Amino acid sequence: MTDSTARHGFETRAIHAGQEPDPHTGSVIVPIYQTSTFAQDGVGGLRAGGYEYSRTANPTRTALEECLASLEGGRHALAFASGMAASDIALRSLVRPGDHVIIPDDAYGGTFRLVDKVLSQWGVEHTPVHLSDVDAVRAAVRTETKVIWVETPTNPLLGIADIAALAGIAHDAEARLVVDNTFATPYLQSPLGLGADIVLHSTTKYLGGHSDVVGGALVTSDDELHEKFAFLRNAAGSVPGPFDSWLTLRGLKTLAVRMDRHSDNAERVVEALVSHPKVTKVFYPGLVEHAGHEVAAKQMRRFGGMVSFTVSGGEQAALDVCAGTKLFTLAESLGGIESLIEHPGKMTHASTAGSALQVPDDLVRLSVGIESADDLVEDLLVALG
Ligand SMILES: Cc1ncc(COP(=O)(O)O)c(C=O)c1O
Repeated sequence: MTDSTARHGFETRAIHAGQEPDPHTGSVIVPIYQTSTFAQDGVGGLRAGGYEYSRTANPTRTALEECLASLEGGRHALAFASGMAASDIALRSLVRPGDHVIIPDDAYGGTFRLVDKVLSQWGVEHTPVHLSDVDAVRAAVRTETKVIWVETPTNPLLGIADIAALAGIAHDAEARLVVDNTFATPYLQSPLGLGADIVLHSTTKYLGGHSDVVGGALVTSDDELHEKFAFLRNAAGSVPGPFDSWLTLRGLKTLAVRMDRHSDNAERVVEALVSHPKVTKVFYPGLVEHAGHEVAAKQMRRFGGMVSFTVSGGEQAALDVCAGTKLFTLAESLGGIESLIEHPGKMTHASTAGSALQVPDDLVRLSVGIESADDLVEDLLVALG
């Protein structure tokens, strides 16, 4: 795909890449092409754009995909019905029975479940590794390793992995480096530019940005990989509908301004938490004492809107904080304009219980929204008591 906005800045591409005014009507905003099929001029005579059936391609989805590719600095992007659909298609395209995958030791619970409970049935093995330990990753690589799967920052412990270093290890082993860029977004971090082969998104989160749509994406500059992903997506059918594609595209337009505000507010929240007597540890890569701070400062523009912390008093104290906020809504998911709070051990990461990926039971995770920072800090202080 050609991108006439390629020379422009991020904010400009978010609004214009793939989004020329509609050639038929002049509509400034890309229309929702709510159609399953497209008229043909005679058998095999596809009209402008080459569309034939919306599982294979749809113009609203194409606009979203062109914009996503542009923002991640990749040649190709594919949109999916969810982040997990994107993960499924990526992994099933990259591995075969007998292959091996390295995953983060605090991977998103759904990613862990897919690898541990589904791919394992097809003879694919995995090793959870602490990805900030580059030597541990190198040591975990086997001749069968085909994928190193990276989240950075990780969910929910905000661990940081050095993307460029891990790309080197993956490529030495002729494996692929996949980076789940959901937490950072392309505004804060560009994995393809650091050597990653594939970027994955749950667009449900910051890219959609308004907690009103579920979606996923894969971005790559490798033509062959893109063809494989597109083939399997079409074969399996895990596509987003036109309206969901449109909502996600609308979200992308304000990504840059939202991420700056999320980062501003998270910094204010972190400042309040680190000095609170009931808070035993704050996990935020912007803190100089965070183990991954140096690497994060090198590969991220800012540190984002996700913050986790532990409280004294164990699991019950963490559950009490989650029950005590009014502005922070108790809910799974993240990355929307509104602030959310959750208990990973009992909610998003419950599927890791009893495994090497189990999260601390006194952990609370925040998705810091773009409300007034003063109000958010006050809400947390009241809940902490
Ligand atoms: C880091 C990360 N990756 C992937 C996913 C899966 O995305 P989805 O819920 O859109 O399927 C999530 C969902 O929370 C996530 O947090």
